Amino acid sequence: MRDPAGFLQQEYDQLVRSDLDWKLRILRGPSTPRCMVDGKEVLMLCSNNYLGLSNHPRLREAAIRAIQTHGVGSGSVRPIAGTMDLHVELEARLAKFKGAEASLVYQSGFATNAGLIPQLVGEGDLVVSDELNHGSIIDGVRLSRGERAVYKHSDVEDLRRVLAQSEEHLPSYRRILIITDGVFSMDGDIAPLDQIARAAADHGAMLYVDDAHGEGVLGDGGRGIVSHFHLKRDEVHVEMGTFSKAFGVVGGHISGSKALTEFAYNKSRTWLLSGSHPPAVVAACLAAVDVLESEPQHVRRLWALTERFKREMQGLGFDTGRSQTPIIPVMVGESSAAKQLSQRLFQAGVFALPIVFPMVAKNQARIRTIMNSALTDEDLTFAISAFEKAGRELKLR
Ligand SMILES: Cc1ncc(COP(=O)(O)O)c(C=O)c1O
Repeated sequence: MRDPAGFLQQEYDQLVRSDLDWKLRILRGPSTPRCMVDGKEVLMLCSNNYLGLSNHPRLREAAIRAIQTHGVGSGSVRPIAGTMDLHVELEARLAKFKGAEASLVYQSGFATNAGLIPQLVGEGDLVVSDELNHGSIIDGVRLSRGERAVYKHSDVEDLRRVLAQSEEHLPSYRRILIITDGVFSMDGDIAPLDQIARAAADHGAMLYVDDAHGEGVLGDGGRGIVSHFHLKRDEVHVEMGTFSKAFGVVGGHISGSKALTEFAYNKSRTWLLSGSHPPAVVAACLAAVDVLESEPQHVRRLWALTERFKREMQGLGFDTGRSQTPIIPVMVGESSAAKQLSQRLFQAGVFALPIVFPMVAKNQARIRTIMNSALTDEDLTFAISAFEKAGRELKLR
């Protein structure tokens, strides 16, 4: 008899044969610049913990306190019995931090995009999306059943062409939604959100920015891309982000008008039908917002390290692509070369993963490094010399 689940093993084996399977590395202890990965002490250069907050004492203490006062679970989804005072406090604090009328917290960034985008647009609507947008946006758009038009990466002229075409040929769209990552996670470049906002206004389109990699990094005190470009709140209709990166915890969120958050929580299925965050998570997120407001040195330090790493790596002849942020790809070209370089770095005590096809084009393989404000100057010197030595041995420069 045919095994109905036989494809599971077959497809997995095929991934392993093609070297496309994920080999999980095990982190023992907290995600800090010096950490234990697969039993080896290494320098962490591939975490999104930009500001070192995932192990910050104020966040740890807040989480422990919340367990003592509120227990370990919320007991329900938000609309039934899972909204605690802490959830409401976090949303109010976040809105204040972002300078928005209101904020709403989701279980994750992925759940935000997958839950909200299909409610903003549907059949008879158009989504205009950057070609390099994150997978959670792509899935959200797929769930929407709206039409999708893709514009060339960060190319505002192409965006305007798509918008003009949509008006010319299909004047019947109910709504148009333009959606872009704020900072692109593979290249570390910044979307030209000011120009995109002008194009959106000219064509009467809604604008949604996924600022997962911009918050805690860009703008006044890490307030994100809307602050970076000094945009007015009503120029960007949905500012989306995540607590899983610079904020050091977990959870997605949106900021914008009160109408947006009220609409979003009444309609997003991922929000309505999935358990709310445990108190410790919410309290740690609240403490992260506090730290961003009261300890601006972390963001400053992140940028100082970013500039030094880029300058010295470029000085050694490495190509750092189009990075404008603490996401700094070290371009290598061939997938096999990127994998070899990552292995050599790991042996030397630097943990930085290769990004290869199909995540990026075949000749665009790279090591993606990510800066962390908790790195010391000596850590960075160590990382740069490891790259220098491995790059020389592999004749990559
Ligand atoms: C641009 C972007 N959007 C959304 C997400 C998803 O965020 P979360 O980890 O909170 O689900 C990520 C995380 O990889 C991301 O890079």
